[in-house]
Amino acid sequence: MSELFKRTHMCGKLNIENVDQEVMLNGWVAKRRNLGGLIFVDLRDKTGIVQVTFDDKIPAEVFEKADSLRSEYVIGVKGIVKERSAKNMNIPTGEIEVFATDLVLYSEAETPPIYIKDDDNVDENLRLKYRYLDLRKPKMQRNLTFRHQIVKCTRDYFDENGFTEVETPMLIKSTPEGARDYLVPSRVHPGSFYALPQSPQLFKQMLMVSGTDRYMQIVKCFRDEDLRADRQPEFTQIDLEMSFVDEEDVMAMNEGFLKKVFHDVMGVDIQLPLPRLTWHEAMERYGSDKPDVRFGFELHCLNHLAEKCQFKVFTDALAAGGDVRGICIDGGSDKFSRKDIDKLTASVKDYGAKGMVWMRVGEDEINSSVNKFFTQEELKEWAAEFDAKAGDLIFIISDKKKVVFDALGFLRRDIAKRLGLLDDRDFKLLWVTDFPLFEKDDETGELKSMHHPFTQPRLDQIPMLDTNPEEVLAVAYDIVLNGVELGGGSIRIHDKDLQAKMFEVLGLTKEECDEKFGFLIEAFKYGVPPHGGLAYGLDRLVMLLAGESSIREVMAFPKNQQAQCLVTSAPGPVAEDQLEELGISTK
Ligand code: AMO
Repeated sequence: MSELFKRTHMCGKLNIENVDQEVMLNGWVAKRRNLGGLIFVDLRDKTGIVQVTFDDKIPAEVFEKADSLRSEYVIGVKGIVKERSAKNMNIPTGEIEVFATDLVLYSEAETPPIYIKDDDNVDENLRLKYRYLDLRKPKMQRNLTFRHQIVKCTRDYFDENGFTEVETPMLIKSTPEGARDYLVPSRVHPGSFYALPQSPQLFKQMLMVSGTDRYMQIVKCFRDEDLRADRQPEFTQIDLEMSFVDEEDVMAMNEGFLKKVFHDVMGVDIQLPLPRLTWHEAMERYGSDKPDVRFGFELHCLNHLAEKCQFKVFTDALAAGGDVRGICIDGGSDKFSRKDIDKLTASVKDYGAKGMVWMRVGEDEINSSVNKFFTQEELKEWAAEFDAKAGDLIFIISDKKKVVFDALGFLRRDIAKRLGLLDDRDFKLLWVTDFPLFEKDDETGELKSMHHPFTQPRLDQIPMLDTNPEEVLAVAYDIVLNGVELGGGSIRIHDKDLQAKMFEVLGLTKEECDEKFGFLIEAFKYGVPPHGGLAYGLDRLVMLLAGESSIREVMAFPKNQQAQCLVTSAPGPVAEDQLEELGISTK
């Protein structure tokens, strides 16, 4: 075992003010160069890199040891800080170097299977398999520290505002958040399972019954759903609940939070109150309930023009109860070739669109994919709907409403990305409000809650629960940042008759309710305050503020796209006797 050189400074923190000081540093060898009588070692710790120089004035055995160093060896160095003659202003420590007087080797390292440098284009699965090496990269260390700062700022803010952080259990009964559960078998009760929480929703509501008044928790949640860049099976929420509040109170509290986070960790001053869009307006204008409002290309409804045209694709879509809508790309005509347009058309097919009409607006005439079905006068009428001018490019999709919204919602953002309009330092936060209380299940056609069954309907619309439930709006709100749903919440039902009505509309029998969440209904018998809350996806918040495009970049040990942990090879088989004990057979 080697002697420990007790660290006096962090590598990346040394600067011109430390000149002539004796320092002890610990870290990893990022690079070693031998220029004959001089050996240069770039020494790395989590704060950065500093150049350590070994010259031939030091004892020969120290010089020899320095010569044997290889990348990623872990060492301790004693030395004197000197001003560099050839300064490197590209790194923060570039004005100085440390002239080593002594060296200790803590451990050797094999050649790492990935380069320890930011943004090398190595396959992500390889990065995830050797995550502990990947995390040595300066950017990954910065992301971990940045996440920590956001978490600290979150705890400080909610603490200052009277919230108590309470831990809720991980082994629970299933929660109704709409995704598949991860299940944990019980040994003590063979054949019975715990679920891992999709969120602490029912527990935080019970905490309101308990008089906790203001609850917060930074909490792991688990959802077995299809993975994307902003979705992981195991993710973290900043979860909140407040008693004796309405939606304005919850939104104001959260605007204060967002202002503080942006100010404290980004140095950005956001203007309050944040803009709001109703769900209906968001869909109509952007085709999405999480609109990216950093750029225009808003949707236009063209049903009134389609009604009087002869083009069968459009008239058939209307006859089937669908829509015809489009977007106009300012100056887009010479930015997209026929081939580009074919690619865009192929991409909207992923969203269910069968095709896409395009129109190039010229000085005198309009060229389009439907020239033979429309006169120039008609085409000009369509272009006028967008106030289009020469050089603009219009895309139109006709289909079921959901397909039109999904496809155009995707397209406007995809085009903005291709045109370089998505500045990730331009933060556009907004609330989306007035969500429908219910949506129709794609498969069964039955009504289901858009959020969860405890969301309060707008009180003036309660009579509509009997007559036209699909039109009832929820007292629910999402917070959206640059096209990403950052968080969502609602005011909850605290009236047992209204809750019973909700279950009835959802077609849940008393037995089903008792089975699923009888314990909450029971708790509500004993005095429940009006309450509401919200939960943020912490990973998403950190991702957006760090300017990353995947939450995996801001999580220490994320799963890959196949929900595997490649470091530990989870999920994996377990011993037969372990299964037996649990009463489980995989045969
Ligand atoms: P919701 O289901 O909208 O609400 O989740 C809240 C926020 O959690 C984040 N999120 C995810 N992040 C990463 N990976 C996932 N798989 C994932 N799923 C969700 C999103 C989302 O906005 N109990 C309610 C909140 C409430 O009503 O108070 C809830 O969980 O950023």
